[in-house]
Amino acid sequence: MPPRGHANIAARPGLISAMAKAKTLYVCTACGTRSLKWQGQCTDCGAWNSLTESTALPQPRLVGASQVRRLADIEDSGERRIKTGISELDRVLGAGVVPGSVSLVGGDPGIGKSTLMLQALAQLAAQVPALYITGEESAAQVAARARRLGLDPDRLGLLAETRLEYITAEAETTQPQAMVVDSIQTVASSELPSAAGTVSQVRECAQRLVSLAKKQGTALFLIGHVTKDGTIAGPRLLEHMVDTVLYFESELGSRFRIVRAVKNRYGPVSEIGVFAMTEQGLKEVRNPSAMFLAGRDKTVPGSVVTVAREGSRSLLVEVQALVDESHAMNPRRVTVGLDQNRLAMLLAALHRHAGIAMYNQDVFVNVVGGLRIAETSADLPTILAACSSFRDKAIAAETVAFGEVGLSGELRPVSFGEERLKEAARHGFRRAIIPAANAPRRAIEGLQIVAASRLGEAIENTF
Ligand code: TYD
Ligand code: MG
Repeated sequence: MPPRGHANIAARPGLISAMAKAKTLYVCTACGTRSLKWQGQCTDCGAWNSLTESTALPQPRLVGASQVRRLADIEDSGERRIKTGISELDRVLGAGVVPGSVSLVGGDPGIGKSTLMLQALAQLAAQVPALYITGEESAAQVAARARRLGLDPDRLGLLAETRLEYITAEAETTQPQAMVVDSIQTVASSELPSAAGTVSQVRECAQRLVSLAKKQGTALFLIGHVTKDGTIAGPRLLEHMVDTVLYFESELGSRFRIVRAVKNRYGPVSEIGVFAMTEQGLKEVRNPSAMFLAGRDKTVPGSVVTVAREGSRSLLVEVQALVDESHAMNPRRVTVGLDQNRLAMLLAALHRHAGIAMYNQDVFVNVVGGLRIAETSADLPTILAACSSFRDKAIAAETVAFGEVGLSGELRPVSFGEERLKEAARHGFRRAIIPAANAPRRAIEGLQIVAASRLGEAIENTF
């Protein structure tokens, strides 16, 4: 690991507790690492030109140190949860909101962060005192949206404010148990000279809001825009300060939204919630498999359905491939929703171990519906879809496939094999092409299992 340098010293209050005045620091906008001098490249994450000047507030002197207690004497705060009533959101958070927890809600502008948080907070407001801080839109705009969404206007407190000191003062007076700050990039403290949205402002404001939430036991949601170029302080900077990080994902032009937990101190990670943007705001999608398969043309070459595992559930998704003769020096390998390097590796394995060469072909692979699959279970369906397009032969519509492909052409099992198969059977699939080691011990009704231990064997059995 590269040395973190001076950064850690500055971050430790005990060492420089007597630091008198504000000090200039340089903070990496990509990973948040601090350094005392400017450098062209971040020593921690290696990003270029990512260091921006920032001001560190004087660290407080050590007063009122905490007491050491036995673990047994400390009550478990993770047990109490407040349900938002939006089950897809509760699932991502891990069975509801934990009092005193801080969640970061990130995503592209316009994807639905404000909408979902307003809906969730209105539900929470029926159970506990709740406060919505809006810095992006006026109070009138938020109220109009709430009315249009049919939310109960009586209980929810609304404050249009961007000055940190006023926000914390209000929260200390009214003691909300649930609070949304929309967005953290609009909040600024008057104690810092820099503008709202800069690294130092975002970090200091978030830090103060986090400590306020912890002190008061408020469930706090910080909304943050993800910026494509790293020039404005992005939510990445805040990830390590908060308990839960939720990111919105969506395919361009699609009305479906996937909310994914990428960090969660109170629940499982990689759990997803699926929503559809409608006239009445974000609606939960109870049967995501059906949604991902909707509109599928069942008889075209280059398509196969796989069973992906997202958090605690199995999802059926279509993997599409297009293989076409290449006229470029380097044929293209393009993936949407899958790892591109993995595709190159799979094509090499396909050539070497099944004798199918695509080195003079462009290969495009797409996961339909905007889902991103990070697991190796997509290996086999990716290859099958590519072969199907290459040979211009459709794979029977009721076929699903999953499994990892190793570099020596072997098929390796993936986790939750039986759950995946059951999900496929539930949606009417009749045939599953899977690694031999994933073959279920007992037959699954209506599902023919085609188990193979080698890649070539799986391809032969498919076509
Ligand atoms: P918004 O929640 O404001 O996005 P963010 O806070 O992430 O920037 O969502 C804005 C988009 O959602 C906007 O393009 C309009 C659309 N929308 C609907 O389609 N239906 C609705 O009921 C609402 C409130 C918004
Ligand atoms: Mg918004």
